[in-house]
Amino acid sequence: MEQLKTFFLEKSVKNVLDVGSGIGDFVKILNDVFGNGAKIVGTDPGDQWLIEARKRFSQDNISFERMNGEKLNFEDNSFDVVSISNALHHLKDIGETFAEMKRVLKPNGWIIVNEISDGELNKAQENQRMLHHFKSFVDRLHGITHSETYTPDQVLEIVTGNGVDVQLSFPHEKMKNPNFDELFLDEKIAQMESLLEELQGRPEYEKMESILPDFKERLNKYGFQMATQLMIVGQFK
Ligand SMILES: C[S@@+](CC[C@H](N)C(=O)[O-])C[C@H]1O[C@@H](n2cnc3c(N)ncnc32)[C@H](O)[C@@H]1O
Repeated sequence: MEQLKTFFLEKSVKNVLDVGSGIGDFVKILNDVFGNGAKIVGTDPGDQWLIEARKRFSQDNISFERMNGEKLNFEDNSFDVVSISNALHHLKDIGETFAEMKRVLKPNGWIIVNEISDGELNKAQENQRMLHHFKSFVDRLHGITHSETYTPDQVLEIVTGNGVDVQLSFPHEKMKNPNFDELFLDEKIAQMESLLEELQGRPEYEKMESILPDFKERLNKYGFQMATQLMIVGQFK
């Protein structure tokens, strides 16, 4: 992640907090950017993600703790950098989470927000959005907070609206090209099928079932690629 490395080149970063770390995909990027001496703490409310993340990272400088972004169990002024990646659309309360991230940041600390966005997507990225919106729909039916993909403008509005002075922003491609690997695409189909299964017996089933054949056809034709992410770096005012 050269842009982040260049941005933080002359800045002293001793510790980093990643909110909503999942299995640690963004922790990997943070370790590449700051790993040379910096301590990185990933946090997530989901036990299944924490177990997976702890298996993936054995380095002494990386640890994971269970918590929600809305209530961070850290002292005020604890971290040089706080990040949140692809988790904004999962938050119950975005304002509270930003307030918490600000509280645990040291004065003049840095915030990094990375978020998949619904901007100019190619056909393979539209397939990722289709699956994401399917999943978020099913989660919402179960009462789980999960918004659809925000546009780049919405992401920027959320960040600036919560008091961040943006100093760097750029698009970030987690996957550079569409993936046509058969096993990979089968996995995506299985994900949608399993989500559909959860809707059995509900009035929404029929409407959602009609999406599956189109999704399969589109996957064969265009492949699957993560939507472009918007990376933002700033400081709280
Ligand atoms: C799509 S994953 C992103 C994982 C990782 N940060 C990445 O960029 O790949 C979203 C994560 O947000 C977590 N999450 C859900 N609700 C949350 C909350 N209230 N506070 C913090 N994280 C939350 C989920 O458990 C999930 O691991």
